[in-house]
Amino acid sequence: MKVLGLETSCDETGLAIFDSEQINSSNHGLLGQVLYSQIELHALYGGVVPELASRDHIRKLVPLFHELLEQCNISKDEIDAIAYTKGPGLIGALMTGALFGRSLAYGLDIPAIGIHHMEGHLLAPLMGVNPPAFPFVSLLVSGGHTLLIAARGVGKYEILGESIDDAAGECFDKAAKMLGLAYPGGPNIAKLAETGDADAYSLPRPMLHRGLDFSFSGMKTAVHNLIKDTPGSGVGSASDPQVRADIAASFQHAVVDTLVKKCVKALKQADMSRLVIAGGVSANSHLRTTLETELAKINATVHYAPPALCTDNGAMIAYAGYQRLQAGQADDLAVSCVPRWPMTELPAL
Ligand code: KG4
Ligand code: ZN
Repeated sequence: MKVLGLETSCDETGLAIFDSEQINSSNHGLLGQVLYSQIELHALYGGVVPELASRDHIRKLVPLFHELLEQCNISKDEIDAIAYTKGPGLIGALMTGALFGRSLAYGLDIPAIGIHHMEGHLLAPLMGVNPPAFPFVSLLVSGGHTLLIAARGVGKYEILGESIDDAAGECFDKAAKMLGLAYPGGPNIAKLAETGDADAYSLPRPMLHRGLDFSFSGMKTAVHNLIKDTPGSGVGSASDPQVRADIAASFQHAVVDTLVKKCVKALKQADMSRLVIAGGVSANSHLRTTLETELAKINATVHYAPPALCTDNGAMIAYAGYQRLQAGQADDLAVSCVPRWPMTELPAL
């Protein structure tokens, strides 16, 4: 089954075609994928402007679709089904992909299905050869969510813990901004941290001993104070590259340490031995290597997708769509997007 996936929930226009007959290929079953980021468009305003995001998705969807067909070397008639992001996200942005996908499916007389963006992230590490089997604990760490989930099957999700304030990715983005680094902050902090000493400064690990929920707003304040009180941390002429790298490394370590400790706790609580990490922050190599070391100590394993499938993309939507479509699920002709959508409301397969 060839499924076209469309992702337009925020500031990336992502399209991909997943072919279930190619699942054992080195390319994770992907015939091709295209991604257009609106980062530059929103950089002028210091954050994503919803109306501009919607207009830009509309501008890009059709040309990107043609580019994708060319890349995959197939005609649109060879597509068997279409999956689009139905929520959560910006309502206008969601509607562009949903209307495009639903209309195209109607025109081609094929099924269409609306997908939960975070389920797309959660299932992305299962694409390809030797996927981790259910059940597993999933750590979903993106710009908008920090969730620990006991996943017992597609659609069988129990929330074990979540952030009570900022998401982990948001915390990376805000710390990066304080250091004068560009959005998205995560990869830029990670790069700066490469030459830094993670033990140079001590930052808090909020709520470490309180259940499986997270809180990152205190960490943000602590970084703000550290930068304010540390000479050389700014970007001006008095800037000290080593001080800045040390701050980035100490911050990254504090976030990673918090995430890792909660993952270990969640695995023990759920009595599971597999951890699957997903979402933009799961591309972080310090998080990956620390999890590998710490989980080996408790005989557990960590699984993740290649970096390009961790951040927003159309492939994860195509793959999640395939899982649900092959189980007989599909949406009717009505298009309804859901800007706020708890994952626990998803139907199980
Ligand atoms: O999943 P995603 O692409 O979009 C959302 O659904 O939010 O996640 C984006 C987030 C941003 O906050 C970005 O800074 C963070 O993921 N991120 C990273 C890395 N790559 C992306 N954070 C830490 N290290 C990275 N390498
Ligand atoms: Zn995302």
